[in-house]
Amino acid sequence: MKFKKAIITGVTGQDGSYLAEFLLKKNYIVHGIKRKSSSFNTSRIDHIYENKHLRNKFFLHYGDLLDSNTLTKIIKEVKPDEIYNFAAQSHVGVSFDLPNYTSQVNSIGTLNLLQAIKDCGLEKKTKFYQASTSELFGEIQEKKQSEKTKFYPKSPYATSKLFAYWITKNFRESYNIFASNGILFNHESPRRGETFVTRKITIGLSKIIYGLEKSIYLGNIYSLRDWGHAKDYVQMCWKVLQYKKPDDFVIATEKQYSVKFFIENCFKYLGIKIKWFGKGINEFAKIIKFDDKKYPKLKKGMIVVKINKKYFRPNEVDNLVGNATKAKKLLKWKPKINIYQLIKEMIDADLEIVRKSTLI
Ligand code: NAP
Ligand code: GDD
Repeated sequence: MKFKKAIITGVTGQDGSYLAEFLLKKNYIVHGIKRKSSSFNTSRIDHIYENKHLRNKFFLHYGDLLDSNTLTKIIKEVKPDEIYNFAAQSHVGVSFDLPNYTSQVNSIGTLNLLQAIKDCGLEKKTKFYQASTSELFGEIQEKKQSEKTKFYPKSPYATSKLFAYWITKNFRESYNIFASNGILFNHESPRRGETFVTRKITIGLSKIIYGLEKSIYLGNIYSLRDWGHAKDYVQMCWKVLQYKKPDDFVIATEKQYSVKFFIENCFKYLGIKIKWFGKGINEFAKIIKFDDKKYPKLKKGMIVVKINKKYFRPNEVDNLVGNATKAKKLLKWKPKINIYQLIKEMIDADLEIVRKSTLI
């Protein structure tokens, strides 16, 4: 039996790790590209490597999106059926501090991969998935954003991803490569990086519960997002490449919540009542009611959420919600995990991580 081969860039990240698991379950041979780091960066995929049944189907290669020679070498060796380009400097806030680096990795990095497919003569064999983003919509031009909505990127991250979106389309049209964009709205999980807002809240709250921290410091808590679960969404990425032709798809839950709603529901899930005071930069949340037997480290009146202006962005995308009609219809997809299940899963996982850390 001939197994399909896939390359995943960004395999050490949130989405890369879930997609690797998903493809291995589908009997793919998976080749992940990880970058060299001075500290361990494989914690999200170590469990795959350590699984003796999967070890001989999962291979890691050192590589960087900016090192086109190595990318070409890996692609030439593996001759993959599918490439999923998940690698990126993916933090919107950080992209304002690192605009040049973000632009190179996210834009030229994507071009390097497409060019490598072409240089290796794999235009007819290798399908290419580009991790496009709802950040492309930025200053929204339509209430719910679909594949037809005009883009208006508002950060170096979003502009770099705009280049990547178009170069993917260009290679599709110019060289007949099966190259598709998945325009994914925010998706989270217990594997989300700790500096993204949902995880910052769930890990911060878990540390407060165990008495390791007193408050969570945030920026714009009125920002609205369409949050799904990464495990759900990587299945979509795969479906995008199984569609009969290359195309672009919006992937979203079509439901919108504020950061403040997310915070309130995290506390609610744990049975802790908070109340908001003040306005703008002076807004904060205090604990009003909780079970002191269950949470001995908490105190009534503790200020658990504070606003800090350093977490505001120079140009904010404060309102995103998707229209995923096309994906639902053509790819027969709909998200399975709702925001309450997502919150539960993230908090339970973070409480366990923090609990274990207190035992060391
Ligand atoms: P993530 O957790 O930040 O993962 C990014 C991955 O890229 C990591 O494995 C990282 O390596 C790797 N990477 C960074 N720079 C690299 C470089 N120069 N060369 C090679 N690898 C590099 O991001 P994610 O949430 O999984 O998102 C996956 C992709 O989807 C990204 O392209 C992101 O922009 C896009 N996206 C994400 C969302 C979302 O809500 N999560 C929504 C839309 C689009 P290290 O582990 O060493 O840092
Ligand atoms: N990170 C962060 N930290 N965001 C905060 C904070 C904070 O302390 N306080 C408020 N926010 C607000 C941000 O200003 C933003 O409006 C919202 O929370 C979500 O921020 P992030 O979780 O950092 O995600 P993002 O929407 O900017 O970007 C993510 O989703 C994109 C898809 O729309 C990333 O995963 C991108 O890679 C992805 O493309």
